[in-house]
Amino acid sequence: MTHHSSYCCPELDCAHAPLKRETNGLACPNGHRFAFAPGTDVPVFASEPEGANEYAQANAAEVHDNALRWVFATFQTDEQRLRERLVARIGLRRGDRVLVTGAGAGNDLPYLVRALVGQGDIYAQDIAKEMLLAGVSRYQAEFATSGVGLHFSASDASHLPFADGFFDAAYHFGGINLFPDIPMGIAEMNRVVKPGGNIVVGDEGLAPWMVDTELGRMLVTNNALYACSAPLSALPPTARAVKLSWELSNCFYVIEFQASTEPLPVDIDVPHVGKRGGTIRSRYFGRMEGVDPALRDRIYQEAEKRGMSRVAFLESALRASLDKE
Ligand SMILES: C[S@@+](CC[C@H](N)C(=O)[O-])C[C@H]1O[C@@H](n2cnc3c(N)ncnc32)[C@H](O)[C@@H]1O
Ligand SMILES: [Zn+2]
Repeated sequence: MTHHSSYCCPELDCAHAPLKRETNGLACPNGHRFAFAPGTDVPVFASEPEGANEYAQANAAEVHDNALRWVFATFQTDEQRLRERLVARIGLRRGDRVLVTGAGAGNDLPYLVRALVGQGDIYAQDIAKEMLLAGVSRYQAEFATSGVGLHFSASDASHLPFADGFFDAAYHFGGINLFPDIPMGIAEMNRVVKPGGNIVVGDEGLAPWMVDTELGRMLVTNNALYACSAPLSALPPTARAVKLSWELSNCFYVIEFQASTEPLPVDIDVPHVGKRGGTIRSRYFGRMEGVDPALRDRIYQEAEKRGMSRVAFLESALRASLDKE
């Protein structure tokens, strides 16, 4: 017997079709197959080739732990309290379903589990199998009886294997500067979180007033990632309630926003009162060729004499002249 998994096909032509569970992996109605990592039920949708970078190597999780110790010692911050504070910003409630992208070895999972107070689901994804599987062995057994379901998958954060609006919230810390396509990584979180759900994204990046200080220059020399700036221009144009702040001595940015796919409420047809007149729409879509400047000045004078806006007078003059023919 086959049954549906919660995962969907991330291939572009499959429109996130639900996948069915088979013995050794997941299968798509169009024939795509995604095997489980050996000895686990962790589906692999995409993964970094072994040795491609510091995360895709045998001892990646230990190397990463060591780098984290350096960060928290350098910025004199308690890791537990920082992660607790960041996780609190997504405002999870008991029973929620939350996505963690670039989850690495799962360092945020204990805080997310606690925030769900005994009921809910966490989907942790990372593109480096070595990191992700370290997370599986560190946390899957530990939280097996927590009441919170832990679901790991290896995939690219820019092509997530989930249906639209599947999650209540999404969280990311520490990897997005290196995503090959940051706007796509954020767009995917926005797509899979239901409208109004919270998204939190943070990574290395000096606050602008730190960039031109000696400490700022030292940090960037030490690690070029500190030169990254918060990728605000990568947010979807529909993002709501956007907040930007910094943690770890103003050296890591944190962006918070609410998911939405609805355009923002802007009426582009509200007429301007005053000399010029027109609307946002007419000023943008109604622009025409340049005319003799002397004629333009006469048009402006005539509009003023008649107590009309320039746009109203021009529109009436042009209409009248066309109707005459
Ligand atoms: C510095 S680690 C942070 C891990 C964890 N979030 C933490 O706070 O400890 C960054 C992670 O981002 C992952 N990553 C990089 N590019 C990715 C992508 N395109 N999709 C998913 N994960 C990615 C890396 O494999 C790595 O495990
Ligand atoms: Zn498919």
